[in-house]
Amino acid sequence: MRSGMTPIHVGVDKHSIIIDWDDGHRSRFLYIWLRDACRCSLCGEPSFGDRRIVLSELPNTIAPVSFHLNNQNELVVLWNHDNHSSVYSSEWLRRHCYSKSERENRRYRPTLWDGSSLPDIHPFSLLELKVSEANLYKMFERLHQFGIVFIHDVPADDGVRQTARLLGYLRETNYGLVSDIKVEPEARTFADLPEAAPLHTDEAFRVFPPGFTMLHAVQPSIDGQGASLFLDGFELVRRLREESPDAVDLLTRVPIRFSRLHPGEDDFLLHGKMIRLDPEGEVSAVRLGLHNISPPDCDECDVEPFYNALRRVDRLVRDRSLRIVRRLEVGELVLVDNERVLHGRQAFDASGGRHIRNGFIDRDSFHSRWRVLSKKLGYEENFHKIFPGAR
Ligand SMILES: [Fe+2]
Ligand SMILES: [Zn+2]
Repeated sequence: MRSGMTPIHVGVDKHSIIIDWDDGHRSRFLYIWLRDACRCSLCGEPSFGDRRIVLSELPNTIAPVSFHLNNQNELVVLWNHDNHSSVYSSEWLRRHCYSKSERENRRYRPTLWDGSSLPDIHPFSLLELKVSEANLYKMFERLHQFGIVFIHDVPADDGVRQTARLLGYLRETNYGLVSDIKVEPEARTFADLPEAAPLHTDEAFRVFPPGFTMLHAVQPSIDGQGASLFLDGFELVRRLREESPDAVDLLTRVPIRFSRLHPGEDDFLLHGKMIRLDPEGEVSAVRLGLHNISPPDCDECDVEPFYNALRRVDRLVRDRSLRIVRRLEVGELVLVDNERVLHGRQAFDASGGRHIRNGFIDRDSFHSRWRVLSKKLGYEENFHKIFPGAR
């Protein structure tokens, strides 16, 4: 057991139980927090963790009558209400300590990248991910760290579905479960045209944009054109903040109108924020489909700053120093965090036969799979990390 998991002293003050640990850390747990955390069979369902506690029935004078560490280093508390007794494992308490420093340790810290400090893009093979949970775990970690992962040897017929099953489930939309991106005689979106596609996140007009998007090269353009572009949206926000903190502030505050129209079939319209921050003020998600933006419906005084901010974003999206350029090979699939990493592509010849398959995966199914795998493989540290994209 790692140092820090053994309590060496337990005490109380007026509102909290205080634990001193073997690594010198001190945790304070408010009585109400501890009482609420009890998951004995009276307070909840120990096997699946849901709660039965009725908070409004707990007096706000809740406090321990007695407390001690038993010989398994569990904290045992007898409460002054209902003659109830609770038992907490010390490891659980330490992992849930909500002190500033422990919450800081659990924070998500993505590794930002640009065109000169590249993410690790060494590809995984689909087979190695299917047969080895250790490799799958490595892939999850890399996706979490950089927001982009390349997978090769993905079969043409149902490779998108097979990849999705590693992380969760395919999300069905008005474009189906899996959609084909190739030149179409009657284009429904920019993706159906051979022209260059500016960097973007997918489906910014949805209330919940897909957490992850997959692009699978069934057939790259035979003329060698149509290379894919990728850009770290978190790095973009970092640079934008350096240039203009006001622009970041505005784009986290003023909703933008994102739209997508298929006349007579679908008419999506969303008032959403372009940049989302976590409670500590760090970027946790971006919605950067600039081709889906309609003129804003906002306070008059925000209109001009809005366009100034948007122009800055547009310049960064087009800044070549931020992006990586990579031509997908046959059978290669790129999996990107769609609330972080933008993708686009260079122009290609319409006769080049370029065919990409696209599918989406929701963010929560990935988080859930990763927690299950973390627990199974014994990586408890990651199990409690605070994830991005949480709303
Ligand atoms: Fe796209
Ligand atoms: Zn209980």
